[in-house]
Amino acid sequence: MSDTSLPPELYTALADLLGPSGFLTNSTDTASYCTDWRMLYQGKCAAVLRPATTADCAQAVTLCVQHGVPMVPQGGNTSMVGGATPDESGKAVVISTTRMNRILNIDHADLTMTVEAGVTLKAAQDAALKEGLMLPLSISSEGSADIGGILATNAGGNNTVRYGNARELALGLEAVMPDGAVLNVMRKLRKDNTGYALRQLLIGSEGTLGIITTAVIQLQPQPRTRETALCAVPNAKGALDLFAAFRKQDPAAIQAFEYMSGTSMGLVNALIDNCPLPLSEPAAAYALVELASPRADDSLRTLMEEVLGAAFESGLVSDAVLAESETQRQNLWMIREEHAEAQKRAGASVKNDVSVPLAAIPEFIEKATQACEALIPGIRVAPFGHIGDGNIHFNLVQPEGADPKGFLAQDHAMMDTVANIVRTLGGSFSAEHGVGQLKTYMMPSWRGGAELDSMRKIKAALDPQNLMNPGKIFPTA
Ligand code: FAD
Ligand code: MLT
Ligand code: ZN
Repeated sequence: MSDTSLPPELYTALADLLGPSGFLTNSTDTASYCTDWRMLYQGKCAAVLRPATTADCAQAVTLCVQHGVPMVPQGGNTSMVGGATPDESGKAVVISTTRMNRILNIDHADLTMTVEAGVTLKAAQDAALKEGLMLPLSISSEGSADIGGILATNAGGNNTVRYGNARELALGLEAVMPDGAVLNVMRKLRKDNTGYALRQLLIGSEGTLGIITTAVIQLQPQPRTRETALCAVPNAKGALDLFAAFRKQDPAAIQAFEYMSGTSMGLVNALIDNCPLPLSEPAAAYALVELASPRADDSLRTLMEEVLGAAFESGLVSDAVLAESETQRQNLWMIREEHAEAQKRAGASVKNDVSVPLAAIPEFIEKATQACEALIPGIRVAPFGHIGDGNIHFNLVQPEGADPKGFLAQDHAMMDTVANIVRTLGGSFSAEHGVGQLKTYMMPSWRGGAELDSMRKIKAALDPQNLMNPGKIFPTA
């Protein structure tokens, strides 16, 4: 049964173009595309389009533009800010890239991978690994999130501290623009100063400026040695001091440096199977450090032992566990990667994905914790995140037993309380998750004046009918 509001002429053209597996109109088939991972939004759509090629995607976009139908690009649907969810009108089509899932090339001379947008990050990482290479982007959602979605949000994650965000890894791009034209900037050059870097405009545009269909991603040699340790530290300042100690010895060796508060760790230990705390007793805070090197010697183990030895002596670290095998390493990472899932299971939560200069992190956490505890008694303040690059997920979990809806009704009060402190410290209200539809209301006060005005002008120039992911990034009147 078809539940679509599409004009009959467009319906027929899309059905002919995409075939039965590429054109879904039954609400049972489209339901999972209309809600987000956090289950904050429940939208509707006129259809889900699943083109298998760039040419089909371009043709589908052209048809939608001709009929004035809004389009919502979607990859793995793991957005934390409702970026890939259509609104409730049911007028938009979701354009899912999941069928564009081929790895086209791995180039050992340039160390690049050419990959279609619908390949999951995990599949791309595994393909690189098979060739003795590494795709150096790592996020907990990598099994579902795909290359297109990752580039569209400029995802960050665990290895930003060493390799940068998705933006730094993308050398080339192909995209279907909002008028259906195919933009091909699929060059794999490290140097290319020939006018505007249009690929960078698409990266981080959250699906508002076009649909990314293929990309050239920079790879790295696979490390030959890794050392991973989970350390108990007194607080965020302690984690930063430990980070500084590693950085002083060998900044290039740090592959990841993550922070977890005692509260967020406690939720993982309690709510996720096979994730007990691997230390003798709970601590106020933890740092997960990973060192990696292309060298096959024991220099990383020496570095790890020297820095941790000094940290034990000075009281900076009170307990630590070092991974002695790949399985142990993966178990330590699982504890970190299950943080988002544990918080989801703990009830409603409000996510503040903020960044501040490193030196300001302890002050930020202290002030924001006090302010949120004063705002909502019993609130569980559960910060964690990529402390090595200044990004803290200052997540707030509902008081135990509280009504989730009542808690979420105060989301703006909580987000604004945190954001006001972030602002005084020179930070950003969204470090890596983007704006989506959740945070559009913050844009005028944070990115107002010429900054938001220029963004609007770019959007209007490329998408004059505002059909590409409307309602995202820009606040509506
Ligand atoms: P989607 O959710 O499908 O889409 C995200 C946005 O990109 C939407 O605006 C959508 O319209 C647009 N989009 C999708 N595909 C395309 C395309 N081909 N062309 C143009 N626009 C497109 N993010 C981080 O940065 N770091 C983390 O550590 C991190 N951890 C996460 C952990 C979990 C458990 C979850 C659920 C999410 C996490 N995220 C993280 C958030 C999320 O942004 C990333 O998973 C990823 O960037 C989204 O990829 P996706 O394919 O799921 O995109
Ligand atoms: C992560 O780093 O695990 C996610 O970006 C965090 C989140 O749940 O906010
Ligand atoms: Zn994150």
